[in-house]
Amino acid sequence: MNTKRLTEQDIDEAAAILREGGLVGIPTETVYGLGANGLNEEAVAHIFEAKGRPQDNPLILHIPSADHLERYCKEIPLTAYQLAEAYWPGPLTMILKRKPIVPDVVTAGLDTVGMRCPSHPVCHAILEAADVPVAAPSGNTSGRPSPTTAAHMWEDMDGKIDAIVDGGPCSVGVESTIIDLTETPARLLRPGGITLEQLEAVLGEVAVDPAVTRLMGAGEKPKAPGMKYRHYAPKAPVTVVTGDPKKSAEYIAAHAAPGDGIICFDEFAPLFGSHYVEQLGPAGDKGEQARHIFDALRFFDHTPVTSIWAQCPDASGIGLAISNRLNKAAGFHIIEV
Ligand code: TXA
Ligand code: MG
Repeated sequence: MNTKRLTEQDIDEAAAILREGGLVGIPTETVYGLGANGLNEEAVAHIFEAKGRPQDNPLILHIPSADHLERYCKEIPLTAYQLAEAYWPGPLTMILKRKPIVPDVVTAGLDTVGMRCPSHPVCHAILEAADVPVAAPSGNTSGRPSPTTAAHMWEDMDGKIDAIVDGGPCSVGVESTIIDLTETPARLLRPGGITLEQLEAVLGEVAVDPAVTRLMGAGEKPKAPGMKYRHYAPKAPVTVVTGDPKKSAEYIAAHAAPGDGIICFDEFAPLFGSHYVEQLGPAGDKGEQARHIFDALRFFDHTPVTSIWAQCPDASGIGLAISNRLNKAAGFHIIEV
């Protein structure tokens, strides 16, 4: 298949491909998504094929506004509208009870569905023009880091999908926060662009799913099926070092072998002259770190490194999402200094 290169000038063409059952790489503020008409079972099945995604991992639906929730969801709690009022359009996905109109292939047979209303203007325009809910997982091959530029999407999807729309680099850089509103208290299933503190400001108490902060045991089932898979992983094994930034940098400098890969805060790059280095951003700027995390993880696949060491921010704010992605990339191989 010849994958078309589209831009923000080609909204109508992207929307037409989606409506007609094709697959389109679409920019969002979090990561690029691999979109298909969420009401077309065959199109949705092609998403799973293109990504090599396990069939038991459900997809989320993208809509242009909260007004569309009732088309696909039932028993919608007031909290959904309160969250939408505060954080939509934006990097937040809500798990709600689904209506029968949502095909089983989207939800992997669950009686719930993830709903998201993205803020990226190009994505929003495509959703409006397509006039169908767009099922879209992150646009990476299953298991790889999520794509945060159109170039990343080309790397994984060239020749496998109909088109990719280049909407520039993603401004958040990690996937949306997933909050399950079918439980009381609401449960955070995946940390992302909307922070736990922001959720608590609207909801009060929020439960944090154990899969956010630790490896699931063999018999355990996380509530977001996707959280059980090894994910975001570069080909070389990753060791995460947490704690005071200066101490973690010194620990890595003392333990890394020459030629190892290093993910570090900008201030500490001079310590790693004989290594492959990816700078995450300043130690004090988590927004910048979130924008770079997936690009940093992808970078090492183009190098001969056999081992990667990563500094990691603390868990406040969007630090929870960054540390979750790093810890998952490391299979929760974490050293505290
Ligand atoms: O930012 C994002 O959310 C991006 C962009 C493209 O919108 N999308 C994304 O989709 O990250 P995906 O498929 O890569 O991750 C969705 C996660 C998976 O872990 C999946 O298991 C979980 O959401 N999920 C989907 N539907 C669910 C449901 N009904 N209940 C629990 N978890 C669900
Ligand atoms: Mg994904």
